[in-house]
Amino acid sequence: MQRLGKVWQRKGVRVGLVPTMGYLHAGHLSLVRRARQLVGRRGKVVVSIYVNPTQFGPREDFSRYPRDLEQDMRLCRAESADVVFAPSDKEMYRGMVEGAFSTFVVEEKLARGMEGAARPTHFRGVTTVVAKLFNLVQPSVAVFGAKDYQQAVIVKRMAQDLDFPLDIDVAPICREADGLAMSSRNRYLKGNLRAQAVVLWRSIEKINALVRDSSRPIAAGRLKTEVRKLVKRKPAARLDYVEFFEPESLEPVGKVQRGTHMALAVFIGQTRLIDNARL
Ligand code: PAJ
Repeated sequence: MQRLGKVWQRKGVRVGLVPTMGYLHAGHLSLVRRARQLVGRRGKVVVSIYVNPTQFGPREDFSRYPRDLEQDMRLCRAESADVVFAPSDKEMYRGMVEGAFSTFVVEEKLARGMEGAARPTHFRGVTTVVAKLFNLVQPSVAVFGAKDYQQAVIVKRMAQDLDFPLDIDVAPICREADGLAMSSRNRYLKGNLRAQAVVLWRSIEKINALVRDSSRPIAAGRLKTEVRKLVKRKPAARLDYVEFFEPESLEPVGKVQRGTHMALAVFIGQTRLIDNARL
């Protein structure tokens, strides 16, 4: 992959990278299309598919994370991606043998709150694997989804801080008809859990309406209470966090207004879902 990346770079071919963990859905494919738009017909689009073990906590779903490389390959071909890069654990982390891999990339500020607080080693795994993918593929642009908003902000900061010579593009969230953000983890939602999962989007809509209709900023605490009430109404739902913050610095705000960013994480049964929006 690195040799190919270097050949392309020498020839001045633009390369767009879409990092994923596979089990591709329409949200991922919208990033592939966006990468194509950004690099043009003569550029190259690389989709990486790698379920990265270092970003999963010990009690998380790494081993049961859904995988279907054959189907993913078909979908990538249909979107006319040029390369699917699907390395093994052996190639990425020397087989995860204890002590065989010991260098990590850590963002120390933006990664503290929200997902970082709920999943302490998560972003260290993300920034490490994304830095590796940037070095392996040598892209001119990498496309990330706003679905994982904090991740996109952290990756941007990492690329800036460590002088990666590429642009980071952030694409909008793709949603199901009822508003549920598309996610590979939605497949865990069996029976009536799927219907309850709409509470994330409903919460965002509700807060959006309150902020839109208010002539002045609203206390974040009051809005958090609103979300807690909505989530409580769904028997299988449990709120992990809801946060209101400045979109670039991710600094929590006391008063919420138009332009404030909102993010939340909710357990639906055993499945943890996230969503976010610029209000
Ligand atoms: P994964 O969850 O597979 O997501 C890959 C990319 O697709 C991410 O940039 C994510 O934000 C984007 N994405 C997921 N669902 C989306 C949706 N509904 N609409 C738009 N974009 C969506 O995020 C990861 O993998 C990993 O952390 C990774 C960056 C690959 C590092 O391992």
